[in-house]
Amino acid sequence: MNIRKILTAFDGSASSQKAFRAAVDLAVNLKAKVTILTVVRVPDFSPSMDEVEETIDEAEKHYQPFLRELLEYGQKNGVELSTVIKRGHPAETIIKYATDNGIDLIVMGTRGLGGFKKMVIGSIAQKVVSYSNTPVMVIRE
Ligand SMILES: Nc1ncnc2c1ncn2[C@@H]1O[C@H](COP(=O)(O)OP(=O)(O)OP(=O)(O)O)[C@@H](O)[C@H]1O
Ligand SMILES: [Mg+2]
Repeated sequence: MNIRKILTAFDGSASSQKAFRAAVDLAVNLKAKVTILTVVRVPDFSPSMDEVEETIDEAEKHYQPFLRELLEYGQKNGVELSTVIKRGHPAETIIKYATDNGIDLIVMGTRGLGGFKKMVIGSIAQKVVSYSNTPVMVIRE
């Protein structure tokens, strides 16, 4: 198995930060590139396009300082990093992005920003593991 392109799914949570660091460590060892993908959920219930644009803009602003820090961390480790923000359903979008961009490995956390701590693994991680054809590495919190 040749791992050249790693996708790490980042929602800002501590768990996704841990997953990101694991992705960078792997990338150093494998001389791979890392893409950080953040998905902004779009409300299901008929918002106007203006509202959707506003949500995306706000999310981008919100994530910018975090992403900058991650980029610096990557640079320090000599890893080629890029960031992508997409809108949509997180699991579907992560899976589709990986397929469309020839990603060799998805790295994600077991937990995210959501609340149902009774579950061992969050619903997004669960769905990606269940439906992705791209191999997935899940990093425990
Ligand atoms: N919107 C997102 N964009 C990118 N990655 C995400 C997003 N949401 C979750 N992830 C990835 O999935 C991992 C697990 O998060 P998940 O959302 O499954 O757990 P949770 O938030 O605790 O539970 P739930 O969302 O089911 O309430 C995160 O560590 C992150 O890697
Ligand atoms: Mg979540």
